[in-house]
Amino acid sequence: MYPFAEGNVYVRNAWYVAAFAEELDDGPIERIIMDEPIALFRMADGKPAAMWGLCPHRFYPLANGIVIGDAIQCNYHGFRFDGRTGACVKIPSQSASPKGFRQRIYPIVEHGAWLWIWPGDPAQADPDLLPSLDEIGFGPGWRNENVGLQPTAGRAQLLIENLMDLTHVAFLHGALVDGDSFLESPIQVAEDGTAMRATRLARTPWVNGFYDVVFGPDNRFAGLHESQTESWYHSPGYIRTDIGTIRTIEGVATIDRAVFGLLNFHHIVTPETRHSTHYFSAFSRNYRLDDDDFSTTMKQLDRDVRAQDVVAVGQIEERLQKYPPQSTELLARADKAAVMVRRKIQAQLLDEAETAAISQQRDPAAM
Ligand code: FES
Ligand SMILES: [Fe+2]
Repeated sequence: MYPFAEGNVYVRNAWYVAAFAEELDDGPIERIIMDEPIALFRMADGKPAAMWGLCPHRFYPLANGIVIGDAIQCNYHGFRFDGRTGACVKIPSQSASPKGFRQRIYPIVEHGAWLWIWPGDPAQADPDLLPSLDEIGFGPGWRNENVGLQPTAGRAQLLIENLMDLTHVAFLHGALVDGDSFLESPIQVAEDGTAMRATRLARTPWVNGFYDVVFGPDNRFAGLHESQTESWYHSPGYIRTDIGTIRTIEGVATIDRAVFGLLNFHHIVTPETRHSTHYFSAFSRNYRLDDDDFSTTMKQLDRDVRAQDVVAVGQIEERLQKYPPQSTELLARADKAAVMVRRKIQAQLLDEAETAAISQQRDPAAM
């Protein structure tokens, strides 16, 4: 499926956000991830649990049930399943619980504002592979805002490549930047282990609207300022874009770090189906921490900007399904980061498909 060779479309051995942590405040929820229905709930000690979401008795959605201790009780006939092990711990019409039955459980970790699950091999679910909160700029010293879950009617790879592509900002989000100076500035692409960074250092004048929010209207500068925009691909489930001021070049004053420091946009991408994606959005900043108006205005602006990407991805998806590409892609130099990320993901897909094929050869019963 575009843009990959046919076959496997999901990298499973990675952490993906299943939900904002606060989404479980009112009880269990169901979320479809990689075509799998998953029930998410909190156990007695508040720890999250993630379980295959259909009751194995008559396939009623488990998330319609209630939590009793560490177990979720199906609301159709009352079977109960332990959130840590998946064991069936109660069948109301009989005294003994079935021995040896296990409902599928997914590794799940609460980290930052999010609940992360590992849809692949549980033995490989290492919490050290999560993006560190210090590194992504989210947590103490930052003001963190959830923008919400933006359902996206397109395959995850379209969104990932949109996020690694800094040139579309000048067109799709034209009001955010001074187009000419932004497009003229070079993009540096750097590989960083499994991660990838695309950085654009631009010299731009004041931009009405967006800069009024980011800097505050009272901090208008004359001349140019040098800003750095970076898209950092951490893994298929997490990308961050940050914007920071380097210095004022011909301005009336140096820009004070208290006025504008670093602004991080967290892009959390979780495949829902082959053709749709959960896009969890949040931002954080390390300046003007007490400015509530900033938070409110930026939240709205951020949501609107991401909605432009969501619409674009949806329009591409719809057409790709109806009209498969007739030619090879015409790629530009500026697509380098997105293409390099695509290659990384393609390699992971092949690797996981190969590992699955080998384990099936060793153990045909696992098929
Ligand atoms: S369907 Fe869940 S207990 Fe019957
Ligand atoms: Fe965008």
